[in-house]
Amino acid sequence: MDSAGTSQPAAEADAKDTTLIYRQSRWTRLTHWLWAISLFFMLLSGLQIFNARPQLYIGKQSGFEFNNTILQIGAQDTDNGPRGYTEIFGHRFDTTGVLGWSGPPGQETPRAFPAWATIPSYYDLGTARVVHFFFAWVLSATLLVWLVAGLINGHIRRDLAPRLSDLRKLPRDIVDHAKLKFHHTRDYNTLQKMAYGGVLFVLLPLMIVTGLAMSPSMDSVLPWLNEVLGGRQTARTIHFTVMVLLVLFFIIHILMILAAGPINELRSIITGWYRTDPPANEPTERSA
Ligand code: HEM
Repeated sequence: MDSAGTSQPAAEADAKDTTLIYRQSRWTRLTHWLWAISLFFMLLSGLQIFNARPQLYIGKQSGFEFNNTILQIGAQDTDNGPRGYTEIFGHRFDTTGVLGWSGPPGQETPRAFPAWATIPSYYDLGTARVVHFFFAWVLSATLLVWLVAGLINGHIRRDLAPRLSDLRKLPRDIVDHAKLKFHHTRDYNTLQKMAYGGVLFVLLPLMIVTGLAMSPSMDSVLPWLNEVLGGRQTARTIHFTVMVLLVLFFIIHILMILAAGPINELRSIITGWYRTDPPANEPTERSA
């Protein structure tokens, strides 16, 4: 792994020269786990709520006379028995067993998302709404705490705010990630900044705003919100799309953690302590 010119004693010295640094503050760690738990419950209860009307529309109206459905999950009778389908922008896919028609063999039922992906697993819209709204407030409060703590302790300015040099480092970061070559430095790399900043400053706030726009009680408090987002149906579609993007982020986040060294990464987000590379292994422009 070392460059050809590195002598054996130097390589051994390098290996010992890793440093344990305090990288994640208690506020970063606490809020991280609170939003991870909240998003877990919100995702599964949200899919149960979606199951009550498994269609998404663009525009202010919905109903039989409008052709503004962009996504639909359902079940249909065929010569081979009932089948589940998912229709996206008019393209229909057979998703039997997962979306539209699922359940244990012989006991399948028509339901958009399967029982294992919803809270509760059986149809209960009331409980799902209670769970969803409870964790929505936990998530909102957690984000606010993260924002205030991050502004006070400098985490946002120091670790997440994009700099001009990040743009310069971007091509190299992309190549390094593609080669699964990770540098364990104090700072987040450009792709991490983009991903974390995108989640914390774009996706999660958009999730909260579109959630508020769907609530009838918000009509009297913020009547313009619904209008700005293109109506309640469009807000619901954006809300669902943000959920899909967060799930994609989550999958990539976990894969990157596994590839970068799960023990070191997990220690840092649980205890704050992170082991950095020996200085000789750090990319020169990063240590500047
Ligand atoms: C919905 C779930 C999750 C979301 C939205 C999420 C999001 C984030 C964000 C935004 C950060 C940066 C935080 C900051 O700097 O203030 C972060 C860091 C981190 N997360 Fe997550 N996370 C989730 C779940 C997880 C899980 C399940 C694990 C562990 C298996 C994990 C491990 C980590 C680690 C190790 C870091 C620090 C990365 C580093 O310092 O390089 N995350 N996460």
